[in-house]
Amino acid sequence: MSAPNKSYDPVEVTALQPAELDKARDAALAAIAAASDLDDLKAVRLAHAGDRSPLALANREIGALPPQAKAEAGKRVGAARGAVAQAMKKRQAELEEERDQRVLVEETVDVTLPWDRAPRGARHPLTTLQERMADVFVAMGFEVSEGPEVEAGWFNFDALNFKPDHPARSMQDTFFVESEESDVVMRTHTSPVQIRSLLSRELPVYVVAPGRTFRTDELDATHAPVFHQLEGLAVDEGLTMADLRGAIDAFVTGMFGGGLKTRFRPSYFPFTEPSAEVDMQCFVCHGASAEPGGEPCRTCSSEGWIELGGCGMVNPRVLVACGIDTTRYSGWAFGLGVERTLMFRHGVEDMHDMVEGDVRFTLPFGMEI
Ligand code: FA5
Repeated sequence: MSAPNKSYDPVEVTALQPAELDKARDAALAAIAAASDLDDLKAVRLAHAGDRSPLALANREIGALPPQAKAEAGKRVGAARGAVAQAMKKRQAELEEERDQRVLVEETVDVTLPWDRAPRGARHPLTTLQERMADVFVAMGFEVSEGPEVEAGWFNFDALNFKPDHPARSMQDTFFVESEESDVVMRTHTSPVQIRSLLSRELPVYVVAPGRTFRTDELDATHAPVFHQLEGLAVDEGLTMADLRGAIDAFVTGMFGGGLKTRFRPSYFPFTEPSAEVDMQCFVCHGASAEPGGEPCRTCSSEGWIELGGCGMVNPRVLVACGIDTTRYSGWAFGLGVERTLMFRHGVEDMHDMVEGDVRFTLPFGMEI
């Protein structure tokens, strides 16, 4: 900045000379007009209206003028700066408008274009059915229990009273994780969760255990090597087969509606005694197809009954293996096949459909997440 100009002559200060100011203003106006986008304009603002621009420097010179000269010089500089600021504002608005128009064109979304996003997946009908089956028991006060799919032979067989020479223990039926001697298996049923629950919970125990199970069965219309079961277990004082029957009846009502009978047929499982296969009356024909002259029924193959699974009173040997006083406690258990339930409940004729992952099979079940 120059020293105070006592012998007043503002024209002597170069930056304040009218011609200089006009030159600086015109250069700024030309640069503003030439700015082709907002970035350009920003650079122009810095060069022609920033702190180090000629007009800003001229403005600073005013301070060094004698008081009587300040007004005139201030007017001249102010006029030039005002013209630049106004032009800057106008160009800014023009360029913003141009940018907005361009964005509207460039980023337009054509909502009429075909939808090309991959549809979101949904849970498999087996998963939702398995949960629904378990929920019926949860509503009765049962807790959900879990166990590992890779299981020790002791839990899968020994504790469940399978004798060492039981055929299920051979490579023909069971997937061994390493060698047969390793005695580590892919669990062949959900019954080992009975043992895990009894060893880890306080009595009384009321649990259901849904889960994946594995057997060396070939995949065919009614078998899969990987399938699902729902295990149920109740151990309490004074439980009888009548309680088991009542729970199964409540399950059938919860899943298929009221008015359907159930029946027990004698069977054998090493871990239940007595054991039974449990059937429910067909929920489509209500048994009518098995009557003389009845209409054929595809759901029950005109048997009138549908097999639900195995059940029975927990063998006292199992309770003993879990350290439970059999003079005080008794229990019952059941194991239901989830794939088979999906088959008859939804008219699925071939188990292949459940494992092949074709959405044409799963979509009609809805998109439950
Ligand atoms: C058992 O697995 C016993 N653990 C059930 C049980 C539990 C009995 C508690 C008593 C007390 P089972 O082998 O019958 O039993 O199998 C039970 C159900 O699993 C069958 O009724 C059937 O619905 C289903 N299941 C068995 N094998 C297959 C398979 N390969 N594919 C699909 N479902 C199967």
